Order: sequence, then structure tokens, then C-alpha cells
Amino acid sequence: MGDVNRTKRYVVGNWKMNTQLADAIVLGEGIKYGVESLSGVEVVLCPPFVWLYPLAEMFSQGPTNLSLGAQNMHWEEKGTYTGEISPLMLKDLVKYVILGHSERRYHFNETDEMINDKVISALDHNITPILCIGEWKKSESGDVEGLTKQLKAGLAGLEEAQLKKIIIAYEPVWAISKGDTSGQRAASGEYAGEVVGKIRSYMEKEYGRAVSENIPILYGGSATADNIKEYMFETEIDGVLAGGASLKIDNFLQVCKAVGEYR
Ligand code: PGA
Repeated sequence: MGDVNRTKRYVVGNWKMNTQLADAIVLGEGIKYGVESLSGVEVVLCPPFVWLYPLAEMFSQGPTNLSLGAQNMHWEEKGTYTGEISPLMLKDLVKYVILGHSERRYHFNETDEMINDKVISALDHNITPILCIGEWKKSESGDVEGLTKQLKAGLAGLEEAQLKKIIIAYEPVWAISKGDTSGQRAASGEYAGEVVGKIRSYMEKEYGRAVSENIPILYGGSATADNIKEYMFETEIDGVLAGGASLKIDNFLQVCKAVGEYR
């Protein structure tokens, strides 16, 4: 696992609990051939665990700007945790792991402490954590206090070198899964840019400039091909985490292309 940085942009596709094997193969192939020609963008597909192996085989010869990520992970390496997936199982299949997604926090009662254990464990196993934070209710300019509380707890105990290996995804919960193709209830680019700027200022105050200037911060919440430029015009935003849009080859490829182009 190398350090992450802001010289490239990221598109993370979170398939959530969608697709059957045949869909995963079709999506994987379409995206593989579509991203080959793109530059300046690192594309990370996060399918359900069971499709990681066939997709890892499919992508074994590249393209180099396409990687796999897991949607979650337990912090222990092995043990009596029925139904869980460990970092040892994942480390040869994925480069990234989404941690602390609001759906994990809400449906599966994941706490900040558990998420912190997962972040530390992912780093220990050379898997890049994509730490999700987000406020539950819409407010004037983001619930900065709530966001920084999630950040502080999620990053507890990390040293500067480790903080340079992390990606943050700002996902206002009220904006998630609102994506019909109009993308109307997504956060506006201006709003998202403003909050991401505040997150970066907090990172500077808490961890210093070397960390805050380096850390990629993505936006997530109903990002689609229709609204992607809004986010990418915001200089603070380094890419997107897309759910619904990542399940449609054309839409997803348009998102990837726009993220690579508008920076
Ligand atoms: P969405 O999902 O793009 O469908 O809103 C984003 C996410 O929850 O990661």
C-alpha cells in the first residue's frame, strides 16, 4: 500500500448489496474496458465480498487505474465471528476498504470505536481505508461538530505516517440514494465543497498541514453523470463515492471521465 495523495482524483463505486454473479461480470468487463483510456483518475470498485475473487482475476492484467475495494471488514484476523470477513482474507484481493459507511453505522450499529479498530487493522494489513463520515440531517452548512467528532474518533491513535494512507469520504446521509437521474436531492456542489473545506481545516488544526494538504476527501451522496461536474469544480473535493451510479456502466464511466477531466 502506498501513500495516497491529491495529485490524482478518485472514483469509488459502491455496489452495496446489489448484483448477481452474471451482473457483476458484465459490469466488471464494461468498466474495465471503459476506464483503460482514462487518465488522472483512480477507479475503485467495491462489489459484494463474493464477487471480489472473480473480479480480481478479471482485473489481474490491469488496467492499472482500476482497483478493488471491500465494503466493510472485521478488525480481527480470524476467530469466532460467524459471517464476518477479515483483513487477512481481503489483503490479497483488495487495495481499499470502505469503513464506517452510514448504512453500517445505522443498520448494524457500528460505533466510532469499532470503526477506529477497523481503520487501524486495515492499515496494519496494507489496505487503504476509505473512512466515511456524514451528518444525518441537512443544516445550513453541515454539522461540523458532528463530523469532526466522527473523524476524531475514527482516526484516534493514528500517527502522521498512517494519516497519509487514508482517504476520507464525506457523505451527508440525507443526500444518499436520492439519485434518480436528475440527482436533484444530492447536496449541491457548493454545499459539498464548503463542508469539505471545513473538514480539511479541521484536519489542519488537529493533525497539521502536511496531513491536511495531502489527504484526499471525496464527496458521496447521489453523485451521477448529471451532477458530477458541480462537485469537480470545487477545488477541495478530490473525487466521489458513487452508489447507484456505479451500477450502470455508462453512467459510471461518464462519472469517471468527468472526474479525470475537471480538476
Ligand atoms: P448513492 O450512494 O450514490 O446511491 O447515493 C452513495 C453511498 O452511499 O456510498
